[in-house]
Amino acid sequence: MGNDHKLGKNKKFFKYFKEYEWSNIIAMMRNNRLDPKICKEDFKDKLVVITGATSGIGYLTARKYAAMGANLLCINRNILKSEALCLEIGQEFGVRCEYKIADLSRLAEIFQVAKELSAMNLPIDVLIHNAGVYLTKRELTSDGLEKVFVVHYLSSFVINYLLMEKLKSQEKARIILVGSEGHRFAAWGLRLEDLNWEKRSYSGLKSYGSAKTAQLLSMIVFADQFQNSGVTINTMHPGAVKTETGQENGPVYRWFKRNFLDKTLRSPEISAEALYYLGVSKEMEAVSGKFFNLTAEEEPAPPALDREVAGELWNISLELSGLHQ
Ligand SMILES: NC(=O)c1ccc[n+]([C@@H]2O[C@H](COP(=O)([O-])OP(=O)(O)OC[C@H]3O[C@@H](n4cnc5c(N)ncnc54)[C@H](OP(=O)(O)O)[C@@H]3O)[C@@H](O)[C@H]2O)c1
Repeated sequence: MGNDHKLGKNKKFFKYFKEYEWSNIIAMMRNNRLDPKICKEDFKDKLVVITGATSGIGYLTARKYAAMGANLLCINRNILKSEALCLEIGQEFGVRCEYKIADLSRLAEIFQVAKELSAMNLPIDVLIHNAGVYLTKRELTSDGLEKVFVVHYLSSFVINYLLMEKLKSQEKARIILVGSEGHRFAAWGLRLEDLNWEKRSYSGLKSYGSAKTAQLLSMIVFADQFQNSGVTINTMHPGAVKTETGQENGPVYRWFKRNFLDKTLRSPEISAEALYYLGVSKEMEAVSGKFFNLTAEEEPAPPALDREVAGELWNISLELSGLHQ
């Protein structure tokens, strides 16, 4: 069994190695400097569900959709910030802004919110999975799972899975996963036998890269499931932008971020514009299963395109979340 795994890993190593193309990296570097395409159409009276709208990219995206007339349902973990957000948005834009509280690192709360969303009578026009954390040290959730994997990946998997029937019955909806070029840090792919990082050293970049690769892999299967249903699912990198990300880490990381990283980053306004374009523009109506750097389509890294691993991850995710029973 141990040897089988080693063999499988080596095979994947050579498979991916052969598939890497420099032209994709060069395209990414070029796209990193681009501005997003702008969509000027309004989105009056549509419903947008967005996770992690209390800060950074989620906050500006919520404001952008509200400014264009959409009603919002935000899935946040903090009541006070949610109250302030909805008050601000309601007063400024005159749209409906509601929220549900869920800690998206906890399976019970993920299931609760997914069930509430699927029981709603209103159609969800756009669903944006944005919430995320960046951790330099491994943390386990109360369910015993690695936290970055759950917040970035498993929460969106469960919510999408439980919403599948509702969204299909609407015959029109767009799901957007806020992913990252950081998926490329998982250069040799997901280690499905060690998703909890017990057998290897943990780092922020590696766990983040793995979780974002998992997101992209799940997109492949969801895009198949939604084929010809009118529901699309795409993943986007929101730019390297200045937000509150990483605040859970220690003082050294926060000092480094404030004094070095933040000085190189762009404004998250570009992320909000891109998320609006991907969610609303006519050009994106029939586009599904694709990865965008802001609004420029790109080829993800080979491990994020591996259909065999995508299928295995799907089954493991059903097991881990208890959806298989
Ligand atoms: N910033 C970048 O350059 C960049 C680049 C590539 C991808 N991204 C992706 O963009 C997304 C948004 O990140 P950001 O940069 O805007 O970071 P941010 O400012 O830290 O915002 C993260 C949001 O997620 C929420 N959140 C975190 N953990 C949660 C949990 N357990 N349950 C529910 N909500 C939770 C936060 O809530 P609180 O307000 O309560 O903390 C906040 O609203 C992430 O998926 C990130 O990976 C960012």
